[in-house]
Amino acid sequence: MRLLSPEWTALAYLVAAVCFILALKGLSSPRTARRGNVIGAAGAGFAVVTVFLSVRLENVPAILAAIVVGAGIAAPIARRVKMTQMPQLVALFNGVGGGAAALVAVLELGHTPDPWLRVAVVFTMLVGAVSFAGSAVTVGKLQELISTRPLLFPGMRWVMVLVLVAALVAAGIVIATGSGGWAIALLLISLAAGLLLVLPVGGADVPIVISLLNAFTGLAVAASGIVLGNVLLVVAGTLVGASGTILTRAMASAMGRGVSGILFGAFRGGSTAGSTTMSDRPVRSSTAEDVAVLLGFAERVVIVPGYGLAVAQGQHAIAELATALEARGVSVDFAIHPVAGRMPGHMNVLLAEANVPYESLKEMAEINPEFKNTDVALVVGANDVVNPAAKSSPGSPIFGMPILEVGDAGQVVFLKRSMRPGFAGIENELLYDPKTTLLFGDAKASLTAVLSAVKAL
Ligand code: TAP
Repeated sequence: MRLLSPEWTALAYLVAAVCFILALKGLSSPRTARRGNVIGAAGAGFAVVTVFLSVRLENVPAILAAIVVGAGIAAPIARRVKMTQMPQLVALFNGVGGGAAALVAVLELGHTPDPWLRVAVVFTMLVGAVSFAGSAVTVGKLQELISTRPLLFPGMRWVMVLVLVAALVAAGIVIATGSGGWAIALLLISLAAGLLLVLPVGGADVPIVISLLNAFTGLAVAASGIVLGNVLLVVAGTLVGASGTILTRAMASAMGRGVSGILFGAFRGGSTAGSTTMSDRPVRSSTAEDVAVLLGFAERVVIVPGYGLAVAQGQHAIAELATALEARGVSVDFAIHPVAGRMPGHMNVLLAEANVPYESLKEMAEINPEFKNTDVALVVGANDVVNPAAKSSPGSPIFGMPILEVGDAGQVVFLKRSMRPGFAGIENELLYDPKTTLLFGDAKASLTAVLSAVKAL
């Protein structure tokens, strides 16, 4: 039974679309992100209810059962996931979305006699399946279920060309004939294409690929909206496609990379894995008390948080340390690199949790000229984002990535547990610099020890 007339349905879809746009607007700033998220979820919920009230659905019990099972699996995972595992979760949910769009397209093929409309069917299948398989690989890489290094095999380039040609042929046949058998073949070929596309991507670039696949899913969903004649799917899919593309470009430029270099760089011989060989050169290590003296008697301190701070959950300790230093008259700022941590905005979210004021968070362009007027740069669980190899070593996997210029500060203090490298797997020359001091240990424990020593000064 249709409870809503087409006019009311269109109005309801418009309300949902406005919610999605307001959600994106909200997500553009850490201050409003939580509200944006709630508005987006409300819009999605409203859209689902509208579908139930406006479309003559078959198999309603089966649909409701699928919703209950899906929500029953997703909600506990989302509640329990650690902040550092968020990119994997996003990749997983996004991939499942692409896969669902592809399956819907296969089922719709039988109801799509118009070959022109079958173009949208084929597009949804192809792009949705690529997104599903590619996202599965990104989850495997980030969870370290498979190697984070670029995975290549001899002749892979040619296998990719073959798969691409096979996909185009199968797509052409499905459009021309509507054959179900060829549609299944296209689905399988597209899954293979998704695997082949992402396997050669190195670990450090995986988050960018997640964002790219997110945009793919958006486009697949928009195309499925054309197939199903559902305007809201077209709008929502296009929003996801456009915002995913913008995010992909922003992340790629923050890491000094081009998107084609990320996808195909490994074929050109430029490994994105890096080397993990470590030298046994001496470094200057120090105690919490010495670090407290350096910080407590400085005029200006800039703190550079990184992934290790999130792992150690040291955000409250770092906020307290900043407050204690400010109470002594030391000027303290936080320097935020756009790809510090493991997801966009990771450090902002982490520090917001500890109520560090937004005014203290300085973006890279703003803080870099300030390092030369800084007495101490305190690098907490960060490595790649301050690694000068990004400027000086053309062969390095991070070459070209803009970095925080902590080397310009009077003194540099690193808080980390060992001499192990960061995500990109490469050594950091700055650790051996005469002006650098290392305080070894878990970031939270070290920060707590430095804090008590500062209070005792
Ligand atoms: P990383 O370069 O990964 O360095 C993290 C450092 O934290 C390591 O040197 C590690 O050394 C230390 N560490 C780990 N656990 C610690 C703990 N419990 N206590 C103290 N130190 C700890 O981090 P970064 O500088 O934030 O750079 C981010 C990297 O991740 C970049 O390469 C970026 O491209 C990549 N990436 C970014 C994103 C986004 S979008 N933000 C997503 C994925 C990947 P020890 O092991 O010696 O302690």
